[in-house]
Amino acid sequence: MNYNVAVVGATGMVGRKFIEILEQRNFPVNNIYFYASSRSAGTKIQFKNTEILVEELKEENIKNKKIDFALFSAGGDTSLEFAPIFTNYGSIVIDNSSAWRMHHEVPLVVPEVNPEDIKKHKGIIANPNCSTIQAVVALKPLHHKYGIKRIIYSTYQAVSGAGMNGLNDLLEGYNGQPPRKFSHPIAGNLLPHIDVFTENGYTKEELKMINETKKILHDDSLKITATTVRVPVAYGHSESINVELNNAYELEDIFELYEECAGIVLKDDLANLVYPMPIEAAGKDEVFVGRIRRDFSIDNGLNLWVVADNIRKGAALNAIQIAEYIINNK
Ligand code: A2P
Repeated sequence: MNYNVAVVGATGMVGRKFIEILEQRNFPVNNIYFYASSRSAGTKIQFKNTEILVEELKEENIKNKKIDFALFSAGGDTSLEFAPIFTNYGSIVIDNSSAWRMHHEVPLVVPEVNPEDIKKHKGIIANPNCSTIQAVVALKPLHHKYGIKRIIYSTYQAVSGAGMNGLNDLLEGYNGQPPRKFSHPIAGNLLPHIDVFTENGYTKEELKMINETKKILHDDSLKITATTVRVPVAYGHSESINVELNNAYELEDIFELYEECAGIVLKDDLANLVYPMPIEAAGKDEVFVGRIRRDFSIDNGLNLWVVADNIRKGAALNAIQIAEYIINNK
């Protein structure tokens, strides 16, 4: 069976990746529809061998199309307004924005981690924050085997996570242009500031990592703190993750655990200077884990270095894997 698929935000950074990955994975598409703002309505984007018209996102362009899956990445306000419109017409919405993630009726899913939550959906399924996705892929096996007490996240996030404008700020910044997306230059710099600051001094990005990790791992008792940093890297988020486990572990068992995990590539061979790097993770589907070592400062402490392509596994790929899971488990 083939499905009618809509890409909302088709001209954007993640939208274009949705289109590329649907093609690459040969997703069973019947008709495909591309939506964006009125600014790019009327332009065309190629899908396989056909030029597809980009339509303005409005209800009259949605109804009568019998869309099965709507993949959204056009900002939170667009998701809040249009996800219910799509579900009213019978679509399953998989939303990459943060708008619906913490809604109690909306599953927040990483297919390697909590696929069982998908079936609870009522039309909308949320794709987690890019930094959270790669973190929970690496943490789930530890949580399952040893239990996790506390997590300290420190991130090194690529500019593409801020969309086309974020990438432009890096590229144009090296030519001496002032930033347009970020508050300060990102070329040759880094910003300990992703998304807006909240009253308690944390950024929204940091709170997303904290809250979404608890929801995905089904554990509100987890103690988590986070510092999220934008770095002058085009693609690929990197994370230092310090974990305090509930139970004792042997380091060799952790290596074995990661060797067997679906969606994870172990890259940890210090003698040969092998460790995960964004330049190698970019364009790949897996989450790369390395620099695995004991944190000697506490009992049962462990340090990890986790890298993934923020636009693929951190966004478009994860959403498409959710759709594939639904199709394969009908
Ligand atoms: P457009 O290109 O017409 O502005 P990015 O995250 O890379 O900046 O991309 C954002 C995506 O969301 C783009 O495809 C953009 O379309 C789309 N978008 C932004 N605002 C709206 C809106 N109000 N309605 C529909 N699409 C929108």
